[in-house]
Amino acid sequence: MPKHLLSPLQTGSVHLNNRVVMAPLTRSRAAQPGDIPRALNVEYYAQRATAGLIVTEASQISRQGQGYAWTPGIYTDEQEAGWKTVVDAVHAKAGKIALQIWHVGRISHNLLQENGVAPVAPSAIVAENAQCFVVQPDGTPANVPTAEPRALALEEIPGIVEQYRQATIRAKRAGFDLVEVHAANGYLLQQFMSTNSNLRDDIYGGSLENRARLTLEAVDAAIAEIGASRVGIRLSPGFVAHGIADSEAEPMALYLAAELNERGIAYIHIAEPDWAGGAELTQAFRQQLRAAFKGTIICCGGYTAAEADALIVSGLADAIAFGRPYIANPDLVARFAKGAELNKPDRNTFYGGEEKGYTDYPTLEEVEAASA
Ligand code: FNR
Repeated sequence: MPKHLLSPLQTGSVHLNNRVVMAPLTRSRAAQPGDIPRALNVEYYAQRATAGLIVTEASQISRQGQGYAWTPGIYTDEQEAGWKTVVDAVHAKAGKIALQIWHVGRISHNLLQENGVAPVAPSAIVAENAQCFVVQPDGTPANVPTAEPRALALEEIPGIVEQYRQATIRAKRAGFDLVEVHAANGYLLQQFMSTNSNLRDDIYGGSLENRARLTLEAVDAAIAEIGASRVGIRLSPGFVAHGIADSEAEPMALYLAAELNERGIAYIHIAEPDWAGGAELTQAFRQQLRAAFKGTIICCGGYTAAEADALIVSGLADAIAFGRPYIANPDLVARFAKGAELNKPDRNTFYGGEEKGYTDYPTLEEVEAASA
């Protein structure tokens, strides 16, 4: 039994029953029109409420911040009300839940933007080999190459920070235990951090500190609204898709870790390289991260229960997030406790659709009842 993984953990001001975190997973099933969390989403998250912490799928903080059709937002009253129904259901089962707040930057397309305008980015550079998901003018959905973005003007940046602030206000009102600032996977904040996607010559570009500025301002806006002990961040220093090729990824992550440690945020969540490619994290980097940040460190990417337990024992992580295993196993914690086999996720139903491949994966009890 992975007893360390199943032991409780205090992260910031939130008590987790165990260290099994449900990773953020975009599932593209929000109600249309309006990108509003709905009853089917409530059922899905409630089924997974035995996780120590659920991190929701990424939720766009504005129409401008959307890169995929049908993902849920957190910028309208209806979206906030929809999320509240999710939070209430998870809390009714004694679960804890963080909202991942998301601006995609250049990983978008005019078809997703208000009035068909161009997506925004630190610099007007197209993300190479990157796709987004749109509904075409004839009504058919399709993956399409991301569009050419325009560079944000300096005067527009306070408005971006304000989007993070407003999203946090809404998350707090909806009852979320934490917000997770999505600074990973090549979206807006990582576009500002990465040396090859940010060619600005103002205070948001150039030096490492300047490239980190927007991320820290977004975090500070979240802290101002919900308190540092309820803020987390997701980083992906090894990420190489979405056109990201950062020559200073590790120094950036370590700089942020030190800055975020000063601020006393609840956790840093590291998305490790996975099917998207990228070099594995080195032991030296893990140790430097641990030395720089005293709060909770969550690692994610291809872990088994045994590997997760071992990393926690080593002290290099405090909790482990599971992505694909959580798609297919609503009772992942119970399965880990029993050493039971896991259901396999079906890739064909990852994005979009209804119950199939979403709320119909059986629990162990259901499997056993069916075979009895
Ligand atoms: C993801 N991942 C992801 N990451 C993130 O930060 N926000 C998101 O919304 C999503 N969406 C998403 C959807 C789907 C279908 C998959 C498979 C993955 C990445 C995810 O959180 C995790 O880092 C990876 O899945 C690796 O962990 P596992 O699956 O190996 O445990």
